[in-house]
Parts: sequence; C-alpha cells; structure tokens
Amino acid sequence: MPGAADAPPFVVLGVSAGISAYKAVEVCRRLVDAGVHVAPVLTERATRFVGKATFDALGSEPTQIGLWDEASPIPHTRLGQRADLVVVAPATADLLARYAGGFADDLLTATLVATAAPVVVCPAMHTEMWEHPSVQHNLAVLSSRGVTVIPPEEGRLAGGDVGPGRLADPALIVERVLDLLGRPVGVGSPGAAAPATGDLAGIRVVVSAGGTREPIDPVRFITNRSSGKQGHALAEAAARRGAQVVLVTASSRPVGPGVVVVPVETAADMEAAVLSRSEGADVVIMAAAVADFRPKVVHGSKLHKTDGVPELILEPTPDILFELGRRRRQGQVLVGFAAETDRVFERARAKLVGKGVDLMVANDVAAEGVGFDHDTNEVTILGADGSTTEVPLRGKNAVADAILDRVCALLCAR
Ligand code: PMT
Repeated sequence: MPGAADAPPFVVLGVSAGISAYKAVEVCRRLVDAGVHVAPVLTERATRFVGKATFDALGSEPTQIGLWDEASPIPHTRLGQRADLVVVAPATADLLARYAGGFADDLLTATLVATAAPVVVCPAMHTEMWEHPSVQHNLAVLSSRGVTVIPPEEGRLAGGDVGPGRLADPALIVERVLDLLGRPVGVGSPGAAAPATGDLAGIRVVVSAGGTREPIDPVRFITNRSSGKQGHALAEAAARRGAQVVLVTASSRPVGPGVVVVPVETAADMEAAVLSRSEGADVVIMAAAVADFRPKVVHGSKLHKTDGVPELILEPTPDILFELGRRRRQGQVLVGFAAETDRVFERARAKLVGKGVDLMVANDVAAEGVGFDHDTNEVTILGADGSTTEVPLRGKNAVADAILDRVCALLCAR
C-alpha cells in the first residue's frame, strides 16, 4: 500500500535503454532533494547506458534490475503496491510497446502492470521512431488508460540530427511528478519552501536569461554578448519577494536560492522550455537575448579549412515573445526587453505593440555601463498603457526590483 500520510511519497523511477538514460540521474537527484523516496528500477539494457552504482548512490534504496535479483520472489508487486507514482524516463519505443501490450517480462514492465498508482512516461527516441504510427498508437492506448505522457522536446539528438525526440528536461519531469503527487513544486534549493511573505508571495514567475547558442557544427556556434546577469538578477529578486520562480537560462552563471533552474542552449530549447512553463505562470519576463537567426544547416561533424570556406545560410529562429503574446491567458503579465543601439524608444515601442506585451524594458545597449555583460544597467520601462518609468544607471539587482515594482502594480490592478 502507498505510504502513510506523513511518510515521504514513494516513487518508482523506471529507466529504459535510451541514450538519455543519463538524464534520469538528474531526475533521481532532484526528486530525492525534493523529499521523495525514490526506488530506481533499470532495465537490463539500460545498464549499457548508465551504471547501477550511480542510482544506488543517489536513490533512496538500492537499484533493482532483475525479477529474480531479490530474495523476495515478487519484487514487482511489492514495488507496484508501495508506489505512490511510477515514472519512466526515458521510455523507449520498445518499453512503450511492451507496456501498452501488457507484457511483464522484466522487473520494470512487471511493476508497471502490477501497480494501481499513477504512471508517467517520458518518451525519448529518434524523430523517425517518435513519429512512427506504432509508437503514436501505443501512446494513445496508454493515454486512454490514464497514463500521463510528458512528450519529448525538439532539439539535437544522438548522432547530430535535430528534431522532436529528446527527453523532456529533468526539471520539467520533476515538476510534473511533484504536481501529480500533490506536493508544492520545489522552489529554490530543491525541496525548499517558498517564502511566505513578500509582495510576490504565491505568484508564479518565469524568467528567461542569457544568450542562446546556435550550432554551426559540433564545435562552433553563433551567440551574442549576453551574460545572463540581468535575467538572473530578476529571477533572484522575484524569489526574494516570495514568488515561485522558474529561470530558463542559456547562461551557466550561479543562481541564488529560491529559483528552479532550467538550463537551455538554443532558441528552440528556450522556446520549448518557456512555452511549456508559461502556461501556468502569472508573470513571464523575457530578459534573454534569443538569437534572431540560426544556421539553416547544422553540420554533424567538424567543418575543416581544407574543405574550403563554408557558406553560412541563416534562417530566423522562433519569436518566443511574440508566441507568448499570442497565447497569453487572462490576467498574465508579460514583460519583454528591447536591446537597441539606435532609435531605442521608437523600436522598443514598436516591439511592445508588435509582440503584445504589457511592459517593454527599453535597453540602450550602446550607452556606457549599460546592457550586455555589465554589472549595471539603465532602462526605461514602457507600459502598454502609454506610461514610462525611467530607471537610471544602477546595479542590475536594483533594476530588477524596479521592473518587478511595475509588475506588482499591474498584478494588483487585475
Ligand atoms: O545578460 P546581460 O549581459 O545581463 O545583458 C542584459 C541584456 C542586455 C541581454 C537584457 O537587458 C536585454 O536587453 N535583453 C533582451 C535582448 C534582446 O534580445 O532584445 P531584442 O530586442 O532582440 O528582443 C526583443 C524581445 O524579444 C526580448 O524580450 C527577447 O527575449 C525576445 N525574443 C527575441 C528574439 C526571439 N527569437 N525570441 C524572443 O522571444
């Protein structure tokens, strides 16, 4: 039977044999940090990708693999009955087929068939496999039985191909699992509770930060000068003021307490991460310098001088802020930044209207000590209502607080 009311929730973490099995390690660590009792169950073939010892060290109990490894002849029913939830990450095409078909020939599938607990599957595979009718059929069967499917993301796959099939990011998987367990989504250092006070207490905020990297080949990319300082300062300030903060960042800068971090690399990664998290958010702030263009072709192996100078053909990236404006739900506050070097207000005002945001933070990045990589910033916050708030040159933390003051005023007015 599932644990007593005050016992930590018992989650079986199933890992099947995909290249992204290494990301299940992060899922395991984050769940344990969030106060969950994690019982790792690997398929035999998953151990070709990731070691049992890693899960032994990070999980709450020894990793199990075989149906016959334990003294108990029925480990699957023990696990299935104790589980408050079973999550499989990654779930391969083969695992999904066996689960949908009711096969129970190893410990993981036997546990899935033996449990009455909610089940979450996180498919990950090559795009061709993901799009195959048999895989989609098996997912439809599982969904119709109440299984939660966390779909894969689009991005770079093993072998350099790009497309849907990459395992959803571990932070998102953990958020969904905690959500299904009825636990507050971990805010801050994983497992910590949100501060009860502050003018943003209980407000869900998504912030983006940093400059995305758009690959040319496995060793080269196009990027910009964003350090992530302004976006990280916003996330930290929102957390200090009591908000539940998710920071989607292309920067590896450290982040203060109270912030759930979702690392991303490309504009496509950022789009997937921001759009999925913004659905339930009260406030979305796009401080990231998202690349406007990316190479149309990403070469799978390193380009060499001896092959001549490559022609770099660029294509536009998705406009995330525009899409957020289009999807925005009632009451959500949307904030964009406009980094400009000339005709700053004119361009910022055009972006405010064109992207459908509430506030546009005009950033004259040609000015001394302002914008990219500086510790200071100077901005003018333009409101959709025609208002302007000038924030003179000061530290990025203070600028963050000035922007959040405007956000608070808008939230109060709704
Ligand atoms: O990171 P730092 O070094 O601290 O520097 C801070 C900063 C200068 C990066 C920051 O203050 C800033 O101005 N961020 C926005 C940079 C930018 O990309 O501006 P933009 O004018 O090109 O884009 C307008 C808005 O659309 C931005 O909110 C941007 O996040 C968003 N955008 C842009 C392109 C795209 N494909 N999708 C988007 O959502």
